[in-house]
Amino acid sequence: MASPIHNHASWGLVALLNGQEKNTFWQRSPTADLPDRIKPVGGRLLVPGDILCLMPDVIHRVAAIGDQPTISFNLYGETNYDQRLEFDPIQNTAKNF
Ligand SMILES: [Fe+2]
Repeated sequence: MASPIHNHASWGLVALLNGQEKNTFWQRSPTADLPDRIKPVGGRLLVPGDILCLMPDVIHRVAAIGDQPTISFNLYGETNYDQRLEFDPIQNTAKNF
């Protein structure tokens, strides 16, 4: 199971308590014709005990890995919903999420 590619338009803290969670990251890479273009910039596998800090410009997708259920504690700042987006890296588009 994987989330869409999205941002949170807020800071966030994710503490993984059980299972494994793969985070894949993108950053904005706009062009004049494609203002919502993004490019991949790596990933990080979270295991129990790991803490991930998200800044408002982070774009990611989260996928549960393995056969153990994932349990995480997530804390986010105040969200600016106008800027919380879901990205399509094939069509180079973004829409509210
Ligand atoms: Fe997220």
